[in-house]
Amino acid sequence: MKVMVGVSGGIAAYKAAELVRALQQHALEVRVTMTDAARQFIQPLTFSALTGHRVLISLWPTEDAQDSAGDASIDHIAEAQWADALVVAPATADILAKFAHGLAGDFLTTMYLATTAPVLVAPAMNVNMWEHPATQANLETLRQRGVRVVEPGSGHLACGMVGPGRMAEPQFIADAVLNALGRSHDLAGETVLITAGGTREALDPVRFLGNRSSGKMGYALAEAAQSRGAKVILISGPSALYPPAHCELIKITTADEMRAAVLNRMADATLVIKAAAVADYRPAAVADQKLKRTGPLTVELTPTEDILAEVVRRRRPGQLIVGFAAETENTLENGRAKLLRKGVDAIVLNDVSREGVGFDSDLNGATFLTTSTAIDLPEMSKRKLADRILDEVVALRRPQSLLVELSGMERQDIERETSSSEPAHPVTPAAEIFIAGAGSRRAIMIEES
Ligand code: PMT
Repeated sequence: MKVMVGVSGGIAAYKAAELVRALQQHALEVRVTMTDAARQFIQPLTFSALTGHRVLISLWPTEDAQDSAGDASIDHIAEAQWADALVVAPATADILAKFAHGLAGDFLTTMYLATTAPVLVAPAMNVNMWEHPATQANLETLRQRGVRVVEPGSGHLACGMVGPGRMAEPQFIADAVLNALGRSHDLAGETVLITAGGTREALDPVRFLGNRSSGKMGYALAEAAQSRGAKVILISGPSALYPPAHCELIKITTADEMRAAVLNRMADATLVIKAAAVADYRPAAVADQKLKRTGPLTVELTPTEDILAEVVRRRRPGQLIVGFAAETENTLENGRAKLLRKGVDAIVLNDVSREGVGFDSDLNGATFLTTSTAIDLPEMSKRKLADRILDEVVALRRPQSLLVELSGMERQDIERETSSSEPAHPVTPAAEIFIAGAGSRRAIMIEES
């Protein structure tokens, strides 16, 4: 998701650099626009170095390439459409007044009028300016128009006075932006180890046995986990993709290298998600020289180690382990068998025989399987699916005994469902039955006593 940071001219402008970094750490793409006054406090170069994008300042093309906004008649509209959110930090009394009155004399004010994305302002100013009825009236107007105000803190201000007017901390503003974008922070404090892509097993110096995994699913999970507050360790086979900024990327080629990397880093992880397509076999011998074409060739293969099974054997208490399964036939039966055989908490089951999903596609659909549930995650973008998978993983962490208030109708539904279907889990006599979730996640959970 994309965020435009607007910087107006106040002493807190230097903190906007920290805000840019905080937003990037949540895998958000960030661009910056500055007012002329902001340039008195911080150089555009700081922001262009941080974001990798030119900073937008002027409505008009200028000689100075750094300041050039390109084609003015298009750019502010294009940028307004590009942004999923606009956050102005610091927001001076002047910029708040301009926003409230619809003045549009520079890039930032024009973009504010042109965008339909959520707008947040983080005011910062002298206490008297903050308390002035004009400022408060402007803020009220903006609030009524849906602008979210990240309230300033109280304390010693740069002007030497004490009181409200100090810009909120960058991390706090970043959290408000995430909220506005509908992003939750439910993986904060977690370290998620994700494997992605396919492995390659050498046959000779130029050939290998591999598969069609692009890494898209695993990289989407990495981005989603990071944007929900997790620290991410991404262990990836060869892939043309760029990993999300700030995740720890470990590149591997073979199944053996993946095994070593996973076992080496898994102790740090609270959650392991194995989306990689790991080779099940490798050539028993690798030719020293390129194999010549001399007629039929038989290659002996030996099995690789099952990394997922080893991860489960070495798991530490509280560590969640989620595997993937790519199946082409009897998907549900094979998926369930894999879930039990590997002893994982859940399997993301892919039917890779279906056209247009799975390997190398931008789309995927899956079934999230646990010992007691089978949740259908219909076809969607891999990035969206990544979030849906994480929703289900987060739900696994919740106590399963959450009793939901049920209406009379729902109770009857449950009684019908539970009496007509065999529980997937052995139920002890004292077992209690609860219902969790709603809609497509409607699933019966059995809590064993
Ligand atoms: O990368 P993309 O192009 O986006 O494609 C995504 C995907 C289709 C590859 C992905 O969604 C997927 O299904 N990954 C799992 C593919 C696979 O190898 O499935 P499997 O059923 O063979 O393996 C089951 C599980 O065991 C997997 O979690 C796998 O990582 C793991 N495994 C397999 C073999 C092995 N030697 N060690 C393992 O840990």
